[in-house]
Amino acid sequence: MSVRTIGVVMNGVTGRMGHHQHLVRSVLAINEQGGVTLSDGDRVLLRPVLVGRDPARLARLADRHGVAEHTTELDAALSGEDNLIYFDAQVTSARVKAVLRAIEAGRHVYTEKPTAESVDEAVALAEAATARGVKNGVVQDKLFLPGLLKLRRLIDGGFFGRILSVRGEFGYWVFEGDWQEAQRPSWNYRAADGGGIVLDMFPHWHYVMENLFGRVEAVYAKAATHIPARVDERGVGYEATADDAAYGVFELAGGVIAQINSSWTVRVHRDELVEFQVDGTHGSAVAGLRDCRIQHRAGTPKPVWNPDLPVVTRFREQWQEVPDNTEFDNGFKIQWELFVRHVLEDAPFPYDFASGARGVQLAELGLRSSAEGRRIEVPAL
Ligand SMILES: NC(=O)c1ccc[n+]([C@@H]2O[C@H](COP(=O)([O-])OP(=O)(O)OC[C@H]3O[C@@H](n4cnc5c(N)ncnc54)[C@H](O)[C@@H]3O)[C@@H](O)[C@H]2O)c1
Repeated sequence: MSVRTIGVVMNGVTGRMGHHQHLVRSVLAINEQGGVTLSDGDRVLLRPVLVGRDPARLARLADRHGVAEHTTELDAALSGEDNLIYFDAQVTSARVKAVLRAIEAGRHVYTEKPTAESVDEAVALAEAATARGVKNGVVQDKLFLPGLLKLRRLIDGGFFGRILSVRGEFGYWVFEGDWQEAQRPSWNYRAADGGGIVLDMFPHWHYVMENLFGRVEAVYAKAATHIPARVDERGVGYEATADDAAYGVFELAGGVIAQINSSWTVRVHRDELVEFQVDGTHGSAVAGLRDCRIQHRAGTPKPVWNPDLPVVTRFREQWQEVPDNTEFDNGFKIQWELFVRHVLEDAPFPYDFASGARGVQLAELGLRSSAEGRRIEVPAL
């Protein structure tokens, strides 16, 4: 068994996602466990090269995590011969330009979602990566959540019979920033800076639906900006120009209907911050980030509508917990390992820029549906 090290240029790691999920919980965690194991047993360690705009912040971050290399010069980082992979977790609006530079430099590219702000740019990225012959991938972390892996297991085991519908509920209250600090970056609430819940969340819902339930054939969505004014990180008020809630109906191949609400203006009365209820002819499931509960047709109660009587049935108690049956690793880390294996030994990696572009396409069509007040069919890209 041999051990080799490859450089990974990481841009945008001073941000929330880049720092926590990608640097700490993925790249550094992979090194701590001894690297990525390839199919022949060889191991690969990752040497992060941090890239950003603010040298002092980068230096502090590098110091804190014992990372040796950091720079504000993207091209210099990309020119390092062993730096095989470029990773991008910058704000969405900065992504395309940087990823194109990495592709031009011949680096394999892995990026946060959405891959771009428009479908044209997302397709252009996919085409550029293919033309240059570099491997490309987009983060689709929700697929690796324990709750959704349990859903996958139920589908593969034939639990649902014919799946009829999916109802997704995502969201929580994001503070306006005036009397309590907002818990998400302010750019998310400005359209000009790449914000908006449709652009943020529809790419997630797209790969969840496509991978678990079927190709998205049509969308009807209503996007809203419920809170029109917010206060930013510096305590300065700004106009919230981006949508902060979206109510979507998606028609999937095979006749499955999915409705998904996404909102930063909702208070949680759920067990988890995202939940999907799947109803099928033989059984139903409600999956969150971690847990998944099921009700089989044989265990389905027979409620009778009678508003004159109090409800005494404890409906939630009639559901059964799906056991873990395995240990679940961090989803971001799992996907990093898959991508490294894709780069080094051509292991399968279906989460490519083309699938990323389909996610951006759904966001774009969702926004158009909302603006025009109509259902829109999703053409093949
Ligand atoms: N996979 C997921 O679940 C998930 C969750 C949240 C965000 N994201 C995606 O990750 C990306 C980053 O989101 P975040 O929440 O970490 O944002 P963030 O604001 O916390 O971090 C943004 C990063 O981009 C850098 N940056 C580069 N150019 C910038 C500019 N012009 N203005 C501001 N910052 C700039 C910042 O320095 C910082 O490092 C976004 O594309 C977002 O869609 C993914």
